[in-house]
Amino acid sequence: SSQLTILGIETSCDETAAAVVLRDASGKGQILGEVVLSQLEEHSAYGGVVPEIAARAHVEALDSLISETLLRAGKSLADVDAIAATSGPGLIGGLIVGLMTGKAIARATGKPLYAINHLEGHALTARLTDGLSFPYLMLLVSGGHTQLVLIRGVDDYERWGTTIDDALGEAFDKTAKLLGLPYPGGPAVERMAKKGNPERFTFPRPLVGEARLDFSFSGLKTAVRQAAQSIEPVTEKDIADICASFQRAVSRTLKDRIGRGLERFRALYPEVATPALVVAGGVAANAELRATLQALCDKNRFHFIAPPLALCTDNAAMIAWAGLERMAAGLAPDDLAVAPRSRWP
Ligand code: KG4
Ligand code: ZN
Repeated sequence: SSQLTILGIETSCDETAAAVVLRDASGKGQILGEVVLSQLEEHSAYGGVVPEIAARAHVEALDSLISETLLRAGKSLADVDAIAATSGPGLIGGLIVGLMTGKAIARATGKPLYAINHLEGHALTARLTDGLSFPYLMLLVSGGHTQLVLIRGVDDYERWGTTIDDALGEAFDKTAKLLGLPYPGGPAVERMAKKGNPERFTFPRPLVGEARLDFSFSGLKTAVRQAAQSIEPVTEKDIADICASFQRAVSRTLKDRIGRGLERFRALYPEVATPALVVAGGVAANAELRATLQALCDKNRFHFIAPPLALCTDNAAMIAWAGLERMAAGLAPDDLAVAPRSRWP
């Protein structure tokens, strides 16, 4: 197929983002320009994302952010072949803002609109960054999702495991809150864990040993609360030990769950010489978890692919790229009547 350029828009959570991405005739991708505006400061006082604040912040930022993105890319709307906007899953207010903006641009310019599933964006990013070929496995670990997904092709996904309660990032955030650490909790817990003793507490490793590939993290959070309540007064050292022990339990859980996933992949695709596991989501920033996954992949002779963090976390380049992949695969654009979906597996 020929060269394609697309404008992508992402507003499903607390990042307002736009990107212009190109796919050349050989299928290689290039980010021509992108802007990601984090709303972290607006939400941090509340200890989490407040949907109404997020939606209003998207409205205020998005138009000028798209202009800035086009400027950085050296393109005008006339130069792009299509518009891609996240239409779910996520916070409905933000989705409405981004998708309506995408529709308006598509309507005004006569260009096709691709309504993108945010998870498909995460799933296909490794093909933009690393030119990965199908099939491969993706572990998505963010504040909202914890999923192991088989990526067979564009629009061809099979979810192998998901969390039956909290997302992993959520478990980090709740643990931090329990311990009086700042939001977002992941980086704070990781910082404390470095100074702690991971052997001091033995926290539960839910579902370890089970054949199904699901995750569960709410029991871990309860155990952390009980540990913190059992010590009086709680010192800095105690908090560090709890964080280190929490992270150890998470590591062991992932090792077991993902290890089974790698085995299942190997059995299903014996002909794939060097299969790959890709990580996505904010929790992929965690050094101990990365090291655990790297070691697991080495042992199982899998490629471990961790795209640059800015592309692991929420961004619009991945939405643009998913749109390009759909175009190149010959999938039809979406009708302008398409509705945003807060839930969309
Ligand atoms: O992908 P992301 O930026 O946003 C969405 O959830 O969509 O992920 C944010 C999550 C938060 O729960 C945050 O606490 C977690 O990723 N996180 C981490 C680390 N950095 C961010 N969790 C563990 N260790 C980290 N270093
Ligand atoms: Zn995400």
